[in-house]
Amino acid sequence: MSSAPATPDLHTLQQYLQQHHGGDGNLAAQRTLDNYSRHHNQDFWAFWQHQTAAFEQPLQMLDLGCGAGQFLRDVALQHPDWHCTGVECAPYMLEHMVELPANARVVIDDLNQPHQAFDHNVSLIMANMLVHELHQPVALFRTIKSWLADDGLLILIDMVRQPLQSYMQHSHPDLTMLPRPELEYAFSQYAEHNRYSADDLQWLLSQCGFEVLQREDIRSGRAVRLVARAGKAG
Ligand SMILES: C[S@@+](CC[C@H](N)C(=O)[O-])C[C@H]1O[C@@H](n2cnc3c(N)ncnc32)[C@H](O)[C@@H]1O
Repeated sequence: MSSAPATPDLHTLQQYLQQHHGGDGNLAAQRTLDNYSRHHNQDFWAFWQHQTAAFEQPLQMLDLGCGAGQFLRDVALQHPDWHCTGVECAPYMLEHMVELPANARVVIDDLNQPHQAFDHNVSLIMANMLVHELHQPVALFRTIKSWLADDGLLILIDMVRQPLQSYMQHSHPDLTMLPRPELEYAFSQYAEHNRYSADDLQWLLSQCGFEVLQREDIRSGRAVRLVARAGKAG
């Protein structure tokens, strides 16, 4: 009789993530820092402000897979009366963490099997480019349901499945010119970024009891933004 595969321990997960991030953790953290403004452009902030305009009172906000903490820092600075918590587990992201204001902190945890307890008192949860890196999104979605307040929102942004041509042409217009290591990386990234379609993510959220309020294709259909509320049964 075969048994279920064991859930990786934190060290094994960190090794997997380093490999997913191209093998060089410092470079991955630097890329995250460098790409921040491009990914959090005017369009992103207009979307974020629109979604969060109704949340003015002091509240708990979580940034899951917070990378080097730039979004966490900026939200905490914009809302000095919010309590902002980032969750991260990659050592190189933690080492490159930006300076955070007093109302922001980072906890180390594996979001495939989170250990944090927020008893229905979180108003806003951001998961930006995290879910494709998880091997167990359902466990996280179930936990998020137990964290969100009744009127709380989950904002999920991620890469979605797409044809090889549109994926490669965006970052590598001429594959024939790529040196072997970069070719290997490009194809492994394609497999990992091509994990879920937008429909898959929406379906997974519905299966886990979320009501999807909004869905928007971004980056010419290479990524999606989903806004969801935990259903009543939580
Ligand atoms: C692609 S980066 C995105 C970083 C940031 N959210 C952003 O939008 O720039 C994904 C982040 O999620 C973290 N991550 C992936 N799997 C995780 C897990 N199981 N537990 C905690 N963090 C995780 C990675 O280490 C990485 O920093």
